[in-house]
Amino acid sequence: MKRGEHLYTGKAKSAYLTEDPDKIILHFRDDTSAFDGEKIEQLARKGTTNNKFNAFIMQKLEAAGVHTHFIELLTNEESVVRRLDMLPIECVIRNIAAGSICKRLGIKEGIDLDPPIFEFFLKNDSLHDPMINESHIVGFGWASEQEIEDMKILTARVNRILLKLFADANLLLVDFKIEFGRFNGQLLLGDEFTPDGCRLWDANTREKLDKDRFRRGMGGVVEAYEEVAHRLGVELD
Ligand code: TMP
Ligand code: ASP
Repeated sequence: MKRGEHLYTGKAKSAYLTEDPDKIILHFRDDTSAFDGEKIEQLARKGTTNNKFNAFIMQKLEAAGVHTHFIELLTNEESVVRRLDMLPIECVIRNIAAGSICKRLGIKEGIDLDPPIFEFFLKNDSLHDPMINESHIVGFGWASEQEIEDMKILTARVNRILLKLFADANLLLVDFKIEFGRFNGQLLLGDEFTPDGCRLWDANTREKLDKDRFRRGMGGVVEAYEEVAHRLGVELD
């Protein structure tokens, strides 16, 4: 399978059509962005690391019964996926307080959230991805009531599967963001699952091993992603 016409360029990935109208190629670039595209840098090996990390996680989820867009790895930096009609919504689930919930609600970083807290955000960088509720989603036609229910159930299921997967690698899955899209009337997990879109802490030291290292200028960003991949058993080369 080869890249056809360029479809879109996101902050860290580009997409290309293929000869099959139901399949696209995702190219994971080395670009790393934060604060809705305000801070952008190229980090060597990040495209390969995230492409292979994402393939590993998507395959684990599929094996556990979560339907995803992932089809196969194509090259070090490219994967073939189903072409979805993406919902403009980000589903966030939090097991430990960190990031925007701490600022927004004055919550101390690091406290356990049990049961996990689920939030919807609108995918819109120029509006800084504002938090939205179900009434906004239905009212503005971004998704149906059924799709809202499906997104909540699927996000909770992904959380249960991955909490265990990361715990077995001595990692705390603090929070993550996932996105869904429609394919033949079914909702599938789309986009990516990589350390760019989740928070992962070492279970003993609580050292940050995710994109917060980039957001905070801590350095060792790709090295941390590689460490997580190594602990999970992801083959990077
Ligand atoms: P937040 O604390 O900034 O709301 O983010 C919660 C989690 O979701 C964190 O792991 C980062 C991820 N996330 C993204 O990857 N992209 C986004 O646009 C948002 C809002 C969150
Ligand atoms: N994912 C968003 C961005 O890349 C927000 C963030 O990660 O800070 O801009």
